[in-house]
Amino acid sequence: MKDLLIVANWKENKTKKQALEYFEDFTQYSKIEGKEVVICPPFTLLDLVSSEVSDKALLFKIGSQDVSRFSEGAYTGEIAASQIREFAEFVLIGHSERRSNFSEGNSILFQKVKEVLKAGLAPVYCVSDSITEIPQGVNIVAYEPLDAIGTGRPDTTENASRIAEEIKEKNEGVNKVLYGGSVNSNNVNSFTSMPHIDGVLVGGASLDSSEFLKIIENA
Ligand code: PGA
Repeated sequence: MKDLLIVANWKENKTKKQALEYFEDFTQYSKIEGKEVVICPPFTLLDLVSSEVSDKALLFKIGSQDVSRFSEGAYTGEIAASQIREFAEFVLIGHSERRSNFSEGNSILFQKVKEVLKAGLAPVYCVSDSITEIPQGVNIVAYEPLDAIGTGRPDTTENASRIAEEIKEKNEGVNKVLYGGSVNSNNVNSFTSMPHIDGVLVGGASLDSSEFLKIIENA
C-alpha cells in the first residue's frame, strides 16, 4: 500500500482561540498506518500549533503556507525559511492564490524553493497543470486545477490521476503528487485510490476538525 500525505491548508483563517478549539477534537488521534498528516496554519499560529501538537503528542507534522524568497535580513514583513524551520518541516510554494494575488512567478518561486531546501525543509510545490515548470530538488507536487479550488467542483479522478502521472514522468525527482481542489470526506477516497495520486491538499474542508478527521479516516 502506498503512503499517503494529507495536507491541511488553513489559508488566512483562525485565531489562537479557534486553533486551540480545533485541537480539542484531536485528543484521540493517533497515527493511522500509512497516512502522514501535515497542518499548515498561518504564520501567526505556527508556534501555537507546533506546541499543541507536541504537548498532546499528536502525530501531525507542521507546514508553513509560504516563505520569504530571501535569507534572514532587512526584508520587513517577511519570514525566512530558517525561522520557519523552528516550527515546521514542510512549506507550500506556488499556491495559485500566491501566483494570482501576489504576482508570484517562476523566478520568485524558484528562489523560495532554493531557500527552503537550504534550510532542510520539504517544499510542496503547487501547480495547476502538468506543463508548469517545477524546480530541481522538489519531491512533492500538489496538482490543483484552478476551477476546482474552493468551488465544490473537483476535477475528475481520472483526469487528476493522468495529470499526476504526467507530472512524475516529466519531472525526475518528483515522487509524490497530491490532488487538491474541493476535496472533502465524501470524495477523498476516490482520489487517493487512484494509482498516481499520493495524497491530498485540503483547503476549506480542513478548517472543521471533525470533517478533517473524517478525511484522514476515509483517505
Ligand atoms: P479547497 O482548497 O480544498 O478549499 O478547494 C484547496 C487549496 O487551495 O489548496
